Amino acid sequence: MTDPAPVEVTTAFGESFDFRRRLQELFDRSPLEPDELMFNLGLYVRSSLLVKFLVLDDLYRRFVSVPGALMEFGTWRGQNLVLLENLRAIHEPFNKQRTIVGFDTFTGYPEASGMADTALKEHGSYRATSDYPSYLAELLEAHEGSNAFGHLRGNHRLVAGDVTETAPQYFADHPETLVAFAFFDMGPYEPTVAALRAIQPHLVPGSVILFDELTWSGAPGEAIAFKEVFRDIPYAIEKCSLYPSKSIVTVL
Ligand SMILES: C[S@@+](CC[C@H](N)C(=O)[O-])C[C@H]1O[C@@H](n2cnc3c(N)ncnc32)[C@H](O)[C@@H]1O
Repeated sequence: MTDPAPVEVTTAFGESFDFRRRLQELFDRSPLEPDELMFNLGLYVRSSLLVKFLVLDDLYRRFVSVPGALMEFGTWRGQNLVLLENLRAIHEPFNKQRTIVGFDTFTGYPEASGMADTALKEHGSYRATSDYPSYLAELLEAHEGSNAFGHLRGNHRLVAGDVTETAPQYFADHPETLVAFAFFDMGPYEPTVAALRAIQPHLVPGSVILFDELTWSGAPGEAIAFKEVFRDIPYAIEKCSLYPSKSIVTVL
């Protein structure tokens, strides 16, 4: 029997790879000074990244009137957490009770998940250096501090470890939590089902959940976990129009 074909992890091909590399090379030799570069980063933002910003903005508008925390299960570098803090500052600058919580091992996929090899092909295993969580915490605080009411800060949380353990523990420690938004971006069944079960009692009507790969047959774990936990929860579901591989679930 021959080995199965490798899992496709990107939609880029041929010439578009060359242009991607050229963009990176142009970024590497940018003539802009760091302060100018920080203010003109859009020069280098590709549509594949820009669309993620647009999707999160669209979702923010949907859950802005729902009380509760914003969570990401599988944060990797934490870009979405930073984006959520900045969308908070734009959409509800006076709301300093909007806690943002990111869960990740910060050491990549646990070996036992069987995802380590696939992930390796994608982004070097998603393994961060041991000091990355504290760097990300500082980054988040710098964004909070530079936004309106920046003197009130320090609400956001990074939870390091395997979510099968950390998610139940987080809600045991914070039973008052309501979840307005959660993004599931880990993939395999076990962590997804554990985190979904952990947030379930904390969802409210209007809570929005974004799933990264509910319809990807190459990794059915997320969909199986979703169907299992949402069997008894009334919800609406739609395909994300700007990013068709993602699905949006709204609790009714
Ligand atoms: C696809 S990446 C997330 C990308 C991120 N959401 C983004 O959009 O930039 C998946 C992440 O899930 C994390 N992860 C996988 N299994 C996990 C587990 N059992 N517990 C905690 N984090 C896990 C990995 O470390 C990895 O950083």
